Amino acid sequence: PNGLLVFLELTARTEQANPVHPSTARLLMRPGLAELARERSKTVTSFYNQSAIDASAEKASVRLTLATLLYSGKSPDGHHILSSAKYLHKELPVRIAHRIKGFRSLPFIIGCNPTILQVHELYIRAYHMLVDFPPIKDQDVEARFCKLVQQLLDDHKDVVTMLAQGFRECRKHVQDETILRNFLDTTLCSRLGIRMLATHHLALHEDNPDFVGIICRRLSPKKIIEKWVDFARRLCEHQYGNAPRVRINGHVAARFPFIPLPLDYVLPELLKNAMRATMESHLDTPYNVPDVVVTIANNDIDFVIRISDRGGGIPHNIVDKVMDYHFSTAEESAQDPRMSNLFNNITNSGNQSSPMHGFGFGLPTSRAYAEYLGGSLSIQSMQGIGTDVYLRLRHIDGKGESFRV
Ligand SMILES: Nc1ncnc2c1ncn2[C@@H]1O[C@H](COP(=O)(O)OP(=O)(O)OP(=O)(O)O)[C@@H](O)[C@H]1O
Ligand SMILES: [Mg+2]
Repeated sequence: PNGLLVFLELTARTEQANPVHPSTARLLMRPGLAELARERSKTVTSFYNQSAIDASAEKASVRLTLATLLYSGKSPDGHHILSSAKYLHKELPVRIAHRIKGFRSLPFIIGCNPTILQVHELYIRAYHMLVDFPPIKDQDVEARFCKLVQQLLDDHKDVVTMLAQGFRECRKHVQDETILRNFLDTTLCSRLGIRMLATHHLALHEDNPDFVGIICRRLSPKKIIEKWVDFARRLCEHQYGNAPRVRINGHVAARFPFIPLPLDYVLPELLKNAMRATMESHLDTPYNVPDVVVTIANNDIDFVIRISDRGGGIPHNIVDKVMDYHFSTAEESAQDPRMSNLFNNITNSGNQSSPMHGFGFGLPTSRAYAEYLGGSLSIQSMQGIGTDVYLRLRHIDGKGESFRV
């Protein structure tokens, strides 16, 4: 019972700080959600042919640079909040309509999967709720708009989990993997963009001197890495009885304006992978495992975070697959007899997902997010020794061109 409490507390923390990751979020899905969504999906056909969505999907989305968000994020009379709300009110339906079009273009057999259909319907509902909302003329309407935005963020919090589950059920019917990859890359990145804009708007109401909306003026890569190291080590200790220590070196004093949100997704994923590999390659000596080393490099144009582990590397025969959605070796490790003692039965009832690994979404999603933000994620495996993962992200105020949200 004690273990379960720790686990629930940890998953609750992931859910809060890291609202998008399937393996943890799945475990927390509200029990009534599936029923609710099934109930809602009845209305899908009635919405299906609405030409309003088609018209919105024809419009181009307006992506803002973070520099624009940063410099338009403060005004003495608060008019920036109204203009931000007006922009969102116009922009969100367009982005959502593009996604609905994406759902409609999926192969029929995929689009019919009940879980995928649920998500499709969530998007249609969101579209209508936003389009039906009155013009934002004053602060009162703006306050109501914030409630709607918050509600939509909550309604959509399990979407990544649902997509991971839905596609896992039906991907075998599709020959052409690139259709799924493109759909997931686009949908997940669009979702990240929408959530960044929406949380940014909500955060404009908060009065935190270090932040403009969701942009931290002086983000310390070292601090945010440390936060996720603590988190990943606790998960790891819970699952394996111990966790590798993590040394951070390089530009540890660097500080610059950046958005923590994407890092809050990617860092725990990369650290969990490194720790899991370390533990599973040292199952005979779990109390004597090599450190994970994180190196920060900062320059005018971008910054790089390298995570090096000594977890044995990624074998040649799978190294090309680890970036595929749904590729995971979770099942293999569960079969190792030395692992079966370690696995927590409560968290693994019936399938191999756990907070440490699960759907095979960590790497592909992290790479999609990094590329969406104008950066990259690359892997160098030294088979037999360990793995280096390089996360590269562009500065928002750097010499190079800033990315757009
Ligand atoms: N640092 C690493 N060392 C060795 N193997 C790794 C490392 N990182 C990833 N892998 C391999 O790549 C696979 C895919 O990783 P990914 O993070 O995408 O999925 P996962 O960890 O299995 O599940 P999820 O991240 O969705 O919880 C892993 O199952 C593992 O086999
Ligand atoms: Mg992972």
